[in-house]
Amino acid sequence: MSHNILVLPGDGIGPEITREAVKVLKACQARGLDITLEEDMVGGAAIDAHGVPLAEKTLERAKAASAILLGAVGGPKWDTMEDISKRPEKGLLALRKELNLFGNLRPALLYPQLAEASSLKPEVVSGLDIMIVRELTGGIYFGQPRGFEKREDGTRYAYNTYVYDEHEIERIGRIAFEMAQKRDKRLCSVDKANVLEATILWREVMNRLAPEYPDVELSHMYVDNAAMQLVRAPKQFDVIVTGNMFGDILSDAAAMLTGSIGMLPSASLNDKGQGMFEPCHGSAPDIAGQGLANPLATILSVAMMLRYTLNEQAMADAIEQAVGEVLDQGLRTADIAYPGTTQVTTEAMGDAVLKALES
Ligand code: NAD
Ligand code: IPM
Ligand code: MN
Repeated sequence: MSHNILVLPGDGIGPEITREAVKVLKACQARGLDITLEEDMVGGAAIDAHGVPLAEKTLERAKAASAILLGAVGGPKWDTMEDISKRPEKGLLALRKELNLFGNLRPALLYPQLAEASSLKPEVVSGLDIMIVRELTGGIYFGQPRGFEKREDGTRYAYNTYVYDEHEIERIGRIAFEMAQKRDKRLCSVDKANVLEATILWREVMNRLAPEYPDVELSHMYVDNAAMQLVRAPKQFDVIVTGNMFGDILSDAAAMLTGSIGMLPSASLNDKGQGMFEPCHGSAPDIAGQGLANPLATILSVAMMLRYTLNEQAMADAIEQAVGEVLDQGLRTADIAYPGTTQVTTEAMGDAVLKALES
């Protein structure tokens, strides 16, 4: 069956890294992967072209696609837009919500070749393999009511709502328990149940699910401790399950354990088998247009697309192996370079992965 892939490069380094990942997708196509590729705009690029971060037509194409490959959105050009509902980030959030992509997988895996690139000691991170399962369509990101108001005395205030219902917690919990069953069978649920009601319910639901997965050892941790434990002794974790905002923050911290945020891919899945695949990092305006961006997180997101949506395990493995080979060759973009390695551009890194894949 032919799969339709929608490519949304976005802003900043988005187009640069997506270009390299598309090369890899095309190499898979040449090896017999039955896909068609379409491209469209999202984020700031779509605002500039159509006045909205996600055009209705683009959303329709996204809904019809088997998978979406997204670069990154946002940048200083649009940061001063007063109405937050019209900013670039809203395009990404709308895609997640409209396609019901509630299951966000963020694997923090250290390639052994990059032990020296991490800001932590090699012995702390070597062998690191954590899967963060982040709830992606609920929590404080989407809770109502939200907004800005003014009190009678003229003082402005603003508020958001941290809300989860049992159904939302249960479905992300099941993804995490099943993920743990396929891995080292340890699941740590991260919450703030000492303060926030929504996360007391979160903990209750996780505990209620646990007997259905007797082979998985469930533990709970408060998010502040989890942030500390991630940099103290990250290898204690196998699978982490957490809500939308905590997952956003913890995954950036976990990224650095792998050497760079430029190494962390992601998959966002719904219950119909559709997925959106994107690096965890943003549009990196500070390095955009300079050939400095690391395309590996996006290329590894293509591997996740093959694994989780297109059901092409062998090709997914081949891409991950090709990334390993390129790192073996000592090739590094600036973010993961250190003395003794060879610094290359975004494009040269993409080409090297392609060559390794084809050899
Ligand atoms: P960021 O992830 O864009 O950048 C943080 C730092 O990491 C920067 O120093 C950047 O140069 C570096 N970095 C990020 N990706 C890299 C890569 N592939 N290779 C090398 N270095 C890399 O986060 P930020 O600066 O907080 O946000 C910038 C913009 O991106 C904002 O508009 C934000 O809203 C947006 N953003 C978008 C996404 C997304 O589209 N999924 C994610 C995060 C942030
Ligand atoms: C991410 C990003 C997004 C998020 C932003 C850009 C909306 O930081 O994908 O991690 O907070 O989820
Ligand atoms: Mn983030």
